[in-house]
Amino acid sequence: MESSSLVVLTLAFLAAIVFITKKIRNPKKKTPPGPKPWPIVGNLLQLGTLPHMALHEFAKKYGELMQLKYGSRTVLVATSPKMAETFLKTYDSVFASRPPLASGKYTGYNFQDMTWAPYGPHWRKARKIYLTELFTPKRLDSFEYIRVEERRTFLSGIYAQRGKPVVIKNHIRRYTLSSISRVVLSDKFFSDHKTDTSLVSISEFHEMIDEWMVLNGVLNIGDWIPWLQFFDLQGYVKRMKILNDKFEVFHNYVIADHMKRKNLAGKNFVPKDMVDVLLQFAEDDTDPEVKLTIEAVKALVHDLMPGGTDTSGVTMEWAIHELLIHPRVLAKLREEIDRVTGGERWVQEDDYPEMPYLEAIIKETLRLHPLSPLLAPHFALEDCNVAGYDIAKETVVLINTWSIGRHPDHWDDPYEFKPERFLQGKEIGMTGQDFSLLPFGSGRRKCPGYSLGLRLVRTTVANVFHGFNWKFPEGTKAEDICMVERYGLTTCPEVPATVIPEPRLPIHLYK
Ligand code: HEM
Repeated sequence: MESSSLVVLTLAFLAAIVFITKKIRNPKKKTPPGPKPWPIVGNLLQLGTLPHMALHEFAKKYGELMQLKYGSRTVLVATSPKMAETFLKTYDSVFASRPPLASGKYTGYNFQDMTWAPYGPHWRKARKIYLTELFTPKRLDSFEYIRVEERRTFLSGIYAQRGKPVVIKNHIRRYTLSSISRVVLSDKFFSDHKTDTSLVSISEFHEMIDEWMVLNGVLNIGDWIPWLQFFDLQGYVKRMKILNDKFEVFHNYVIADHMKRKNLAGKNFVPKDMVDVLLQFAEDDTDPEVKLTIEAVKALVHDLMPGGTDTSGVTMEWAIHELLIHPRVLAKLREEIDRVTGGERWVQEDDYPEMPYLEAIIKETLRLHPLSPLLAPHFALEDCNVAGYDIAKETVVLINTWSIGRHPDHWDDPYEFKPERFLQGKEIGMTGQDFSLLPFGSGRRKCPGYSLGLRLVRTTVANVFHGFNWKFPEGTKAEDICMVERYGLTTCPEVPATVIPEPRLPIHLYK
């Protein structure tokens, strides 16, 4: 044989060996079906401004588990209760992390807040502090007087506007911010105008929360196409850094003020709010693995403020919008309220076990308007096989709760607002035990603040309709109430409702 033929044969043989070895090492992976991605951008341009709805439409074609590409990253989307259960229960420990997005780095204290912290010792510790120190039933009960006072101020504020058009969202936002901030950091840090003790005005702080919600919900190109990160094409990272600086100034001031009070009180110090509890915990902490630092305290306070205000507020807003356009449901709710209160007092937190229809209204609101339609993104910690598909480490997983709440196999008339569905047949819970209704998620990353959120939402929605009849301003009617969504980390109505309150209870109750 000629030497050149020998060389060709040898090369062909080597190539065959390399090919076979590669095949043995990396057998073809079975991946879920999904829309064909474009080069570079993947499926990003197909998501539009309401990604959960675009994904809902894709799921009709590709099924309950789909694979998409966001730029160069693989994203799986679960769209059925069964798939949600698979990720959030069966494989919860594998998918309990978060992707390292710019929002977590720049607006989440470099992934030290709980929302964006990767699954690991720091997150575990933060979670434990939340559940055993901040959100115990006893602690929440001890702050009930604050919620009652703030609710009274809220209802009196609306009473003062009786007969005039009111943008109800504005009142709700102010009220939820005051309720949460008094619980978290006591009440002197905001006021209508800046003062010596209030570092920012209420409207400035609202703007900071709005910006945080926007920046934590956006699709930042640099997160998904890493080589474009440097250019910050949409300017989001620049905005994140500016926002971070503002929060940093605010948190430094709050912590310094709390420390001063704590040092002055010495041994007689009694924690008054959640910042006090966290600082005390940090001081006593002897954990060698992860010590709670002051930076981490700031990060956890940061979770509580935006996490606690807009979440409850937006849920209230959706429930109010639904009740304004469903007079039949409202009439039934009022019957229940009158039966429980006798019409002579406000609805209180401990009335709710007697108010199954109110509870059904809240569930129905959260079924149709889950606050975070795709939950917060989950992230695979290791390679695994789910439902017969090979899923690689670092795959992002989204749970489309918006779509699950409309799943035709699980809900009759899925697009109708019918609270009665929750009063028939088997009880459906909303705090993670039933995978057909997941407004707070489920498993390890489930919302730790749900109990506080529900306490605020239930009593507020009930009292808004107990205390007032709501008329539509001249020239408008129920059909004008906006039910169109504006997508973000929290998804709210695009246009807030403007309505006219008319008191319906004895006057002394509003004073
Ligand atoms: C009606 C009110 C609320 C709703 C609908 C809600 C919903 C959610 C959802 C969907 C998640 C993501 C779950 C997941 O990724 O699987 C979440 C996480 C979280 N929520 Fe809430 N939430 C509410 C109220 C609150 C309140 C009042 C607080 C605190 C004051 C809070 C603090 C948090 C935190 C810190 C996380 C991140 C948990 C983690 O990643 O481990 N939430 N919430």
